[in-house]
Amino acid sequence: MATLEIRDLHVSVDTENGPKEILRGVDLTIAGGQTHAIMGPNGSGKSTLAYSIAGHPKYNITSGTVTLDGEDVLAMKVDERARAGLFLAMQYPVEVPGVSVSNFLRTAKTAIDGEAPKLRTWVKDVNKALSDLEMDADFGQRNVNEGFSGGEKKRHEIVQLELLNPKIAILDETDSGLDIDALKIVSTGVNRFAEQGDKGVLLITHYTRILRYIHPDFVHVFVDGRIAEEGGPELAEELEANGYERFVKAGAKS
Ligand SMILES: Nc1ncnc2c1ncn2[C@@H]1O[C@H](COP(=O)(O)OP(=O)(O)OP(=O)(O)O)[C@@H](O)[C@H]1O
Ligand SMILES: [Mg+2]
Repeated sequence: MATLEIRDLHVSVDTENGPKEILRGVDLTIAGGQTHAIMGPNGSGKSTLAYSIAGHPKYNITSGTVTLDGEDVLAMKVDERARAGLFLAMQYPVEVPGVSVSNFLRTAKTAIDGEAPKLRTWVKDVNKALSDLEMDADFGQRNVNEGFSGGEKKRHEIVQLELLNPKIAILDETDSGLDIDALKIVSTGVNRFAEQGDKGVLLITHYTRILRYIHPDFVHVFVDGRIAEEGGPELAEELEANGYERFVKAGAKS
């Protein structure tokens, strides 16, 4: 089973006033078969962690390591990371003008597998993934994210997750902007992925709402660029009740 290991990760971004450190020593291990949730206040660096693992050029890794089954992820190009089995669903998915959903999915699948999927099974797989997410089959002909509603973008990401079937999925606010029905549909998709048994899931979220449907094994509180506390699902309940105040205060002292 796959293991993603993040060790003492420090990440900064370039600003007008020079480099600004955003991640200040993140330690996190996600093994196959585990679902982890990260919760934390706005601006604490959660998306930065996701983008850094994915290889976004804006983020400079100043120290620390990220490995997947012992392989150095930080040394891999973005497409190599996907091929190695990492998947990132972004908080703000980008539009890809002129590229249809079905072409996009096929290109991504081909790049990851190293060969084009067999057409007959592929069409069936795409239609199944779309219908699992309760999306119309016509959706395949739309341009990626162009004019998609917030909820459609998120569903499209789970369609990608189903078809690309990575080892480790990092989902950044997959629940934001979803109505109650869509939240269930998307959660069911994530659970279907996780229930394969050997997959790792890192779910970044603000609300315990989604955790009613997706049950994390571990909850991490992310404050000021690092993990301030770890626990089980009960930690999410506590956050819902009391907010982040005690963590933010504790973080400010150190
Ligand atoms: N280019 C930049 N210049 C200055 N600060 C930046 C830059 N890029 C990111 N940051 C800062 O890094 C911090 C972490 O941002 P990040 O998006 O990772 O937070 P987050 O935890 O995902 O927040 P949210 O819950 O709102 O999604 C923020 O304070 C943000 O303003
Ligand atoms: Mg974010």
